[in-house]
Amino acid sequence: METLTRSTQHPINNTDFLPLQGTDYIEFYVGNAKQAAHFYKTAFGFQSLAYAGPETGVKNKVSYVIRQNKLTFVLTTPLRADHEISTHVHKHGDGVKVLALRVDDATDAWEQTTKRGAKSYMKPTEMSDEFGKAVVSGICTYGETVHLFIERKDYNGPFLPGFRKWETPYYNPAETGLQYVDHCVGNVGWNQMNKWVQFYEDVMGFRNILSFDDNDISTEYSALMSKVMSNGNGYVKFPINEPAEGKKKSQVEEYLDFYDGEGVQHVALATNNIVETVTALRSRGVDFLTVPGSYYEDLLSRVGKIDEDLKPLQELGILVDRDDEGYLLQIFTKPVEDRPTLFFEIIQRKGAKSFGKGNFKALFEAIEREQEARGNL
Ligand code: FE2
Repeated sequence: METLTRSTQHPINNTDFLPLQGTDYIEFYVGNAKQAAHFYKTAFGFQSLAYAGPETGVKNKVSYVIRQNKLTFVLTTPLRADHEISTHVHKHGDGVKVLALRVDDATDAWEQTTKRGAKSYMKPTEMSDEFGKAVVSGICTYGETVHLFIERKDYNGPFLPGFRKWETPYYNPAETGLQYVDHCVGNVGWNQMNKWVQFYEDVMGFRNILSFDDNDISTEYSALMSKVMSNGNGYVKFPINEPAEGKKKSQVEEYLDFYDGEGVQHVALATNNIVETVTALRSRGVDFLTVPGSYYEDLLSRVGKIDEDLKPLQELGILVDRDDEGYLLQIFTKPVEDRPTLFFEIIQRKGAKSFGKGNFKALFEAIEREQEARGNL
């Protein structure tokens, strides 16, 4: 059962001890940031923004910052084998290290969360350069993933102190219409979901707005359970998945095996025109999961009237689901690295605030076909 515990979301919540203004950036630890940045620019339409590395006084790692509308990605790679990021990449492969959240007061965010039991990752640290000052602090979450709190109201540089504007003679391919982070999903271990639900409730003041049990989210094989956590104003949503027993290996279990631990499963990127965005992404080589043509045969009887023509949705493999507030369109990429770990969702919301429960079965059957091809089912 989809448990409808969703309640009215207050843009101003006086009891919110951790007011968040949204996702500030997502940092990926990768084996080769130069090539990863090129991939996200060319395939996804991100634009060059900022750089830090040996030329800017950072001796042992390199970071490229790329942006598209309100989406900022940081791609970081270590330069030496004995760097802690090398250990991270060796263990996990390329993946998300930091889900950075924008706050008005990074010192208070750190104090509020650590006094409620968060393990500190970084004490409040003031950084400055000729563009002003920023304060950054951080706490640990599932696996080796961390949340950084970014206070940048007194900063006007390209990204953060220490970064310089990244100018490249390469002609950046055009943007693809990606707008902002809709939600970020974490995969946690067996029976760990409720522990992390409790963490987001107690430590960060989030609420559980939706739950899915293994009756909602199981095909013959690929069972999982999920709870969606949201902060007070709804700007930050973190669904948490754990594997469930099925006939064969859960997709979450496959992730845990190949990521070698808990971590970010997918990041959902919002667009205002999913047909245009997915057309552009496909033409640039982004691979998506596909569902059988039969999915579209009775689609309109399932979801009712929609604004979009069915034909382009079917040609592109875009899925549709409706809840009591409207509908949404969504599609999932295949993993964006060779390990079957991190992937992206492209989502366009037309009133719906849910996550596409009606598509789970078709999607998970598509995932199982991929798992089977990898020999991991
Ligand atoms: Fe999602």
